[in-house]
Amino acid sequence: MVSGEAYFAPRYYAMLGYEENAFEPSFESFRELVHPDDWFRVVNSLRTAFEPEGPLFECEFRMRTPDDACRWVSSRGLITERSPDGQPLRMVGTLRDVHERHEAEAALLGQLAETQRLNAELEEAQVQLVQSEKMASIGQLSAGVAHEMNTPLGFVKSNIGTLENYVGTLLELLAGYQQATAGMAGVPELDEVREQLALAELDYLRSDIPELFSETRDGIQRVQRIVSDLKDFSHLGGEGWGYADIHRGLDSSLNILRNEIKHRADVVREYASLPELWCQSSQLNQVFLNLLANAAHSIEGRGRITVRTRVEGEFVVVEIEDTGCGIPPENLKRIFDAFFTTKPVGKGTGLGLSISYGIIRKHSGRIEVSSRPGHGSIFQVFLPLHGSAPGASDESAMPDEDGSPD
Ligand SMILES: Nc1ncnc2c1ncn2[C@@H]1O[C@H](COP(=O)(O)OP(=O)(O)OP(=O)(O)O)[C@@H](O)[C@H]1O
Ligand SMILES: [Mg+2]
Repeated sequence: MVSGEAYFAPRYYAMLGYEENAFEPSFESFRELVHPDDWFRVVNSLRTAFEPEGPLFECEFRMRTPDDACRWVSSRGLITERSPDGQPLRMVGTLRDVHERHEAEAALLGQLAETQRLNAELEEAQVQLVQSEKMASIGQLSAGVAHEMNTPLGFVKSNIGTLENYVGTLLELLAGYQQATAGMAGVPELDEVREQLALAELDYLRSDIPELFSETRDGIQRVQRIVSDLKDFSHLGGEGWGYADIHRGLDSSLNILRNEIKHRADVVREYASLPELWCQSSQLNQVFLNLLANAAHSIEGRGRITVRTRVEGEFVVVEIEDTGCGIPPENLKRIFDAFFTTKPVGKGTGLGLSISYGIIRKHSGRIEVSSRPGHGSIFQVFLPLHGSAPGASDESAMPDEDGSPD
């Protein structure tokens, strides 16, 4: 029979800081002293120890001290007597104060977490550094090339205009000759000239030359746009904050990716009217470039990329939707990790989204993704309407920093 009797040694009271016999030795008084959050574990350990052939009772838990604080104790117990059918009748146990050890462990865990956090920060900084160095040199290179191309482009454009005038004059002159020689059929010295004029197919030239000039002008204009986009894009010294037109950034990113996109997708632009945003425009361009490149890469065969902008509450939303392969749910959590890529070796570094995420967070914004495998994905970039980053005019509009993707 279980009597319910209990005995607490004087050291039991002393260890917890109580006067001897401050409370009745009983299971109930023991229970009252155990921290409620730990009681479930204590009961569970007891239950397994009580089972026939059960193991030693072993458990670490907190107990209340007279000043309403807690101490960690380690308890061990042994069933010393059982009824013939294996029910426990008597248990002997010890309690050991392990509070200091627990405190040290907790401090150690805290330090470990801090070290892990610092490591993650370091890794992020390293990735940023590698990427920003890469971007800086690409930026410098393209700005240099763009600059060098500007001068010859300028004189090619101006010369083409002059040439067009000259050629016009020459054609008129030739037409005059043609007319004049036509009326002099009887002059044999002009036979050769007439023959040459016929061979020259003047009528055809007259209709084709303006077309050639117009195509050439078009071509030059396109090169000029690319050069200006490159300059916009690389924006030497563009680390700085300033007001910028988001649509311009999107357009120059689309232009730069023209070749990559045009064989795979039709681009639909649905732009709302937006105010200029306080941002690091060249950094935002990196984000757009990567999101658009990802969208293009996700499409096999032919598809559609829709670029939408709108104002939603305190945010400007830039949405890039593709009709590509989509992202399986198990990858959704990982796509923002540095070096996560599903592209073949040498094709993708897996840095694009992690850099983009960092840039958008620096703008106090966030990126959200939704995707349906086999149907496509939507990436949404939220940027605060009232720039909240360094130097912004309205510091109070800072939304919370935690823009982690879900
Ligand atoms: N629009 C998208 N559709 C389908 N999968 C996508 C899309 N965007 C990103 N992903 C997935 O997320 C992964 C990581 O993208 P991220 O831009 O970070 O790197 P990457 O494109 O692979 O390489 P990098 O951008 O460095 O060249 C991609 O490899 C791809 O699996
Ligand atoms: Mg990418």
